[in-house]
Amino acid sequence: MTSTTNHQFKLAKRPVGMVQRSDFDYTESPVPVPGDGEVLVKILYISLDPAMRGWMNEGKSYIPPVGIGEVMRAGAVGRVIASNDPAVAVGEHVLGILGVQEYAVAKAKGLTKVDPKLVPLPVYLGTLGMPGMTAYFGLLEVGKPKAGDTVVVSGAAGAVGQVVGQIAKIKGCRVVGIAGGKDKCDYVRSIGFDAAIDYKHEDVKAALRQHCPKGVDVYFDNVGGEILDAVLTQLAMHARIVICGAISQYNETQITGPRNYVSLLVHRASMTGMVVFDYASRYGEAAREMAGWMASGQLKTREDIVEGLETFPETLLKLFKGENTGKLVLKVADA
Ligand SMILES: NC(=O)c1ccc[n+]([C@@H]2O[C@H](COP(=O)([O-])OP(=O)(O)OC[C@H]3O[C@@H](n4cnc5c(N)ncnc54)[C@H](OP(=O)(O)O)[C@@H]3O)[C@@H](O)[C@H]2O)c1
Repeated sequence: MTSTTNHQFKLAKRPVGMVQRSDFDYTESPVPVPGDGEVLVKILYISLDPAMRGWMNEGKSYIPPVGIGEVMRAGAVGRVIASNDPAVAVGEHVLGILGVQEYAVAKAKGLTKVDPKLVPLPVYLGTLGMPGMTAYFGLLEVGKPKAGDTVVVSGAAGAVGQVVGQIAKIKGCRVVGIAGGKDKCDYVRSIGFDAAIDYKHEDVKAALRQHCPKGVDVYFDNVGGEILDAVLTQLAMHARIVICGAISQYNETQITGPRNYVSLLVHRASMTGMVVFDYASRYGEAAREMAGWMASGQLKTREDIVEGLETFPETLLKLFKGENTGKLVLKVADA
């Protein structure tokens, strides 16, 4: 039965430093009614992404910030429970930017249909969703790995990192992951990485020298900060650094840039930023290839699922505390 109440998290103020519960209002409103060309979606799973921290800031970025008083922006999957568009039927499952709430009205045209019989719904938020697309295009189009290359990825046990390392293995590379803690390092080795560096307990520069004796050909950077600086000391000639994210900096009020960038000059190396949305027209192609790798067992995927919309602020923080392994997903309702 459909509830008549919609619980929502709205942005109450712009966070300073680490995001906290008081940055949001937890509100109740009537379940909205879809207009022409719109559908009503009962949200089942919400994607929690480091980028959400950036969307809370004022100022120019690759998409506009969430406005004060607006429902917090988030990707989500859910089930259509009312439809005013013949292209989408009640009972179908859809993916879209639906927000941190229980019910969303959305234009049917802006949604992607997903099939829970093919893979569990949370996978559409992870490996077959935005993080997987980021790994696929960031590594293959920007990192351009060649068989035999040494590929290093930070945030290795996370949503993007776990996929980057496995695709690099599929492409015949030697893969070294950097992650926080023994369990995460064990996890990335268990999915085929050749080596893992626990940056919380090891000297990263020394470990990179040990695991990448011929230097780093591709560095897929999810974290920025000191780890980026350490990798810059171990580049191979013509290395490619993919600037995917800088999570170590997202809650800082003073951003730290790389100190060792002159290494780019010495090694004729490049550092290139990438935004996954630039590849939106090619998501289908990537999803088909990755689904094939999943079916053949070459690409494993892990989701970290936390239950309860009301836990949203604390669950989001798990990303910044390193408490998630694999794709962090908030479960809102039973499928
Ligand atoms: N450019 C794009 O289009 C795009 C798209 C999607 C994601 N991204 C970026 O990709 C990166 C990974 O995203 P994700 O969704 O896969 O997140 P994730 O890796 O699943 O989760 C974040 C992880 O970051 C690590 N971390 C947190 N604080 C850190 C710090 N101070 N220093 C080093 N590591 C830290 C933690 O792992 P440890 O326990 O190992 O520290 C944490 O588990 C983020 O920077 C995100 O913004 C970019």
